[in-house]
Amino acid sequence: MAAVTIKSAEEIEKMRRAGRLLARVHEELAKAIRPGVSTKEIDTVCEELIRGYGCTPNFLNYEGYPASVCVSVNEEVVHGIPRKDRILREGDIVSLDTGLIYQGYHSDAARTYGVGQISQEAEKLIEVTRESFFQGIMMARAGKHLHDISNAIADYVIPYGYGIVHDLVGHGIGTKLHEPPNIPNFPQRRRGIRLKAGMTLAIEPMINIGTGEVDWLDDGWTVVSADSSLSAHYENTVLITDGEPEILTLL
Ligand code: MF3
Ligand code: CO
Repeated sequence: MAAVTIKSAEEIEKMRRAGRLLARVHEELAKAIRPGVSTKEIDTVCEELIRGYGCTPNFLNYEGYPASVCVSVNEEVVHGIPRKDRILREGDIVSLDTGLIYQGYHSDAARTYGVGQISQEAEKLIEVTRESFFQGIMMARAGKHLHDISNAIADYVIPYGYGIVHDLVGHGIGTKLHEPPNIPNFPQRRRGIRLKAGMTLAIEPMINIGTGEVDWLDDGWTVVSADSSLSAHYENTVLITDGEPEILTLL
């Protein structure tokens, strides 16, 4: 595996800016979630916000991906393609995953929201997924090992009986959207690389109510839970420091 990059002080400033702007994009997108809105409308708002900040959407045209945001509804895990005819309805859950480039540096973050009133089981899935990220980043500090993060996420999620998605993982991030290392969200026997200050990582648990098995739809992108159970996603771009990790994509 190629070496994991350590960002310089100047690069970290740009990553911080890329992260803060993306946090604002997510705050605005959250306001667009309501019954009756199409997933395409969310994409339009997202692209306008990113460009309005003078940044570039990094998902758009990534390996041919046709939008600025992935909008994944209910049993869709990730990479849902926005569509005019996909209308959000009361009771749905929707994951928004998006990122941007600021002066050559990438940020990446995802959130799952309820549309109007949602079931208690859906609320719980969203909350456990979010909390698993925070459990993971307790281990995200210099001197710990990469898989301490993976194991902390898994140890938190498994007692709920949920399925952790194995086929998609978190990643390093910087001058590219996806850099080494891969960051699995399921139990690891090896410790993985030692974490160092200046690493920037996108940590992103994807959790299903049922099993963690997934299928790919014929559109070539959308990943769904194999058993059609609800799925949630929570992701932030994080800076490793000698102390507390800095979550770059939260305000
Ligand atoms: N957000 C995904 C990730 O976290 C990347 C999506 S790539 C796209 O790694 F092409 F689907 F946009
Ligand atoms: Co990511």
